[in-house]
Amino acid sequence: MTPSSTAVAHPNIALIKYWGKRDDRLILPATSSLSLTLDVHPTTTTVALAEADSASLDGAPMTGDALERVVRFLDLVRELAGSEARASVVSTNAGPTAAGLASSASGFAALAAAAAHAYGLDLDERALSRLARRGSGSASRSIYPGFAQWHAGSDDESSFAEPVEAPGIDAAMVVAVVDGGPKHVSSRAAMRETVRTSPFFAAWIDSSAVDLADLRAALAAGDLPAVGDVAERNAMRMHATMLGAEPPVRYLSPASVAVLDRVRQLRAEGVGAWATMDAGPNVKVLTDRADAERVRAAVAELGVTSSLLVAGSGPGVAVREGAVA
Ligand code: DP6
Repeated sequence: MTPSSTAVAHPNIALIKYWGKRDDRLILPATSSLSLTLDVHPTTTTVALAEADSASLDGAPMTGDALERVVRFLDLVRELAGSEARASVVSTNAGPTAAGLASSASGFAALAAAAAHAYGLDLDERALSRLARRGSGSASRSIYPGFAQWHAGSDDESSFAEPVEAPGIDAAMVVAVVDGGPKHVSSRAAMRETVRTSPFFAAWIDSSAVDLADLRAALAAGDLPAVGDVAERNAMRMHATMLGAEPPVRYLSPASVAVLDRVRQLRAEGVGAWATMDAGPNVKVLTDRADAERVRAAVAELGVTSSLLVAGSGPGVAVREGAVA
């Protein structure tokens, strides 16, 4: 029997987006971001010290760049732990991978927690958030339940996420999958090209600070309509910024636009629903939990989705000790 550590983490969806780094190596973002951790599509990852580094995802051995990214991450953990030991990483995603559904957020949050535990590191949540950030920026936020803000910070020490209170808000996200396949450009490459070539990037940084302040105020006031308005405008501004890259980065598809239109129409009908989108064509609709079923049914009627589920606010990362044969 080999001792092993298993961690479970959930994806998060940003209401104020992270799009652009100012340090690619340390994964320091150009702006702060704020998300909601969901209660669907968890990643479960087991790390066991082993003769050699290896990694598998959903039963298939990882290779190439994906494996390289995991091994680089293990190198960081080894550096922190002062260890030379190699490790085997076994991971399963309950949701689709690399489809703009935050699989890298849940993936690196789970890997950070499982690897830290396997290597005997005793990290508090802030240190775990900083470590997860080094795997994938958005993973820094999946350490926490509910709403979390990733402070951009100015260096490795000061760039971490923290929970955010939102009294009286009972949010749900209707996750409308219009294409469950892997995205055509990774968010990492797309954000690098946006920073490098989009003339709108400076405006994105300025407007993002305003959006974040407005969102914080709306969350503190328990004002879901204000939260939704800011979140939708911030997502559209992120996509506008990347559409300005050379060549343009466009994740929106006709099916995405159909869902965006239906969400706007729902609001005209008096239903509180607001759209957000990440690095893919899928649309997540923020709503009050009490309205979620109505929103889901309205989007379903469009006939453009391959899956539609209602997610609520989810838990932070959790570790359990165990043993594998
Ligand atoms: C559009 O965290 O996947 O989902 O740090 O390069 O791994 P890397 O990028 P990643 O980017 C997520 C971008 C986003 C917005 C967000 O989650 O804030």
